[in-house]
Amino acid sequence: MPTLLVIGATSDIAHAAALLFGQKGWDLILAGRDMERLEDISFNLRVRLAKDVPFYHYDVLDSHKRTELWDNLDPKPEAILIAVGLLGDQGEAKSCPELALKVATVNFTGLIPIIIQASQYYESIGKGSVIGISSVAGDRGRASNYPYGSAKAGFSAYLSGLRNSLSKKGVQVLTIKPGYVRTAMTANMLLPGLLTATPEQVAKCIYKGVVKKKSVVYVKWFWRWIMFVIKSIPEFIFKRTNS
Ligand SMILES: NC(=O)c1ccc[n+]([C@@H]2O[C@H](COP(=O)([O-])OP(=O)(O)OC[C@H]3O[C@@H](n4cnc5c(N)ncnc54)[C@H](OP(=O)(O)O)[C@@H]3O)[C@@H](O)[C@H]2O)c1
Repeated sequence: MPTLLVIGATSDIAHAAALLFGQKGWDLILAGRDMERLEDISFNLRVRLAKDVPFYHYDVLDSHKRTELWDNLDPKPEAILIAVGLLGDQGEAKSCPELALKVATVNFTGLIPIIIQASQYYESIGKGSVIGISSVAGDRGRASNYPYGSAKAGFSAYLSGLRNSLSKKGVQVLTIKPGYVRTAMTANMLLPGLLTATPEQVAKCIYKGVVKKKSVVYVKWFWRWIMFVIKSIPEFIFKRTNS
């Protein structure tokens, strides 16, 4: 059975995805920075799936140790799902250099080392899947959340380039772009019901995206068209809008 390595496994979306992949027969490895919650999630998955689910410490901000996880995995997983993300206080991130840098690191630059490790391995064996959860927020910078949105834009562009580089070599690079999702990240936000997905809906999109070897998947589908319209607005008009 193939194995999925889930980075940021305490995320609500990651938990739903791990359960779905597990139900489809995949083995699972979890990684994150909160070992107590990882233990609970691992236990929950083990009970529901009747299989062992190992878990490891991984902190994107720990630049000395973040490459250890991949190095120590033997055998290597067939797919890696990166569900790490930090919204933070976007108002504060606009004026606080430390928080802005943290948002950029957690959502993008800090993820690069493990993506390089996994993708180089997959390239060497001619197969494998790198799955990254980005966001529609990365499709156009907006006044309300550009620290987070710009990091997601960088992450999406990185995955796009990686896909361009590796698709001829048998490696899938899948970018998941949710709009709003009801999770811990958005717990304090009023979300528009129709536009909002559940973690389980995102999980289904991830699983289908892997099975169908997709490149970019919007959750829900109409976000692709919403963002198409938003991206089409000329800058001289867009800069005058409240977004
Ligand atoms: N919710 C939405 O509306 C929405 C929309 C579009 C995209 N997304 C993206 O979906 C992904 C999953 O988010 P979610 O909604 O499920 O939110 P979540 O429950 O808050 O998950 C965020 C995950 O990132 C982890 N994380 C944060 N900082 C980390 C660090 N320094 N090192 C390692 N892990 C770290 C968190 O770990 P801890 O549990 O230890 O904090 C948690 O596992 C994220 O990439 C997010 O940006 C979410």
